[in-house]
Amino acid sequence: MTNLSNQSTPLIIDTDGGVDDALALIMALNSPQIDLKAITVLAGNIDVDRAAKNVLRVISIVEPDKIPTVAKGCEKPLVNPPFNAAGIHGTDGLGELYRFQQADGSPRYPQLTLEPADENAIDILLKAAQNYGENLTIVALGPLTNIATALQQDAETMKKIGRIIIMGGAVKVPGNISAAAEFNFFVDPHAAQVVMESGIPLTLVGLDVAMKAPLPRAVVEENLQKHPSKITQFIADCTEIYMAFYRDNEGFYGCYLHDPLALAVAIDPSLVKTELLYMVVETEGRFTKGLSLADLRDRRDESENPPNIDVCLDVDTQKFLQLFEQLVA
Ligand code: RIB
Ligand code: CA
Repeated sequence: MTNLSNQSTPLIIDTDGGVDDALALIMALNSPQIDLKAITVLAGNIDVDRAAKNVLRVISIVEPDKIPTVAKGCEKPLVNPPFNAAGIHGTDGLGELYRFQQADGSPRYPQLTLEPADENAIDILLKAAQNYGENLTIVALGPLTNIATALQQDAETMKKIGRIIIMGGAVKVPGNISAAAEFNFFVDPHAAQVVMESGIPLTLVGLDVAMKAPLPRAVVEENLQKHPSKITQFIADCTEIYMAFYRDNEGFYGCYLHDPLALAVAIDPSLVKTELLYMVVETEGRFTKGLSLADLRDRRDESENPPNIDVCLDVDTQKFLQLFEQLVA
């Protein structure tokens, strides 16, 4: 994998518009190492329309010099019925932002003026694959429905891209949305398996490393005190309910930085230790739908099961959190 730490590379972020997606987008928009060509959106944490609005909200807060194209894609998984995480990310996908007001009583987060592009996300993905080829990295922060649909539409073009860095799956640790599955793979296991079979160079940033990337509530509040800004205020506001979920359900008042870690790997691959493994995603299991099964056997037959994905199994947490702070505080 190309080390991006000293060069900017064409990047597309594919996102389902939740709270940790927003934190990853702030990092990307603030990172000189990233040339963000487009942001493609799909249903996952929340429906695709709200997810697009949330991406535009982040752009309106960061106010980057260059506004990336924001394009809507798939409204539902390839096969399974839609499944969202509104109970964790809020009904708006960003922690019920409408609750917050300015000192004068006006909404802190007023109606957006930015709009998504007319062009569909799948067309944007295929055009970028054609234009940038192996220089293009896609960072997938939600279910893989958009990417799988682009592969089904034109696999030859999609296979030109350099790498997909996927936030998803869990190899040596339990799932989060079920005992077996991580949320993105649970929502659309069929899409995940299409991507596993694609032959495109893949990196998996799963729960094995995401759960080693905690962001305590105290750090968010300290950042807001020390570096008051629209960004640190937004982070404090949009993570409030999300962090309360973790406090009440996992005894940790904070959240895990799943999507920011996936984005960070695109900036600095040296943050993680990976192992090239053969992986499949269960699509039919009554109890195991969305399970990311890696072949960890010592005597695995690689001719039978050729390795298809670089799986992140460890992370330099401190180095990652320093990069995160650098790009969001
Ligand atoms: O399991 C965590 C992942 O599912 C994150 O990408 C989160 O935003 C949700 O999409
Ligand atoms: Ca996400």
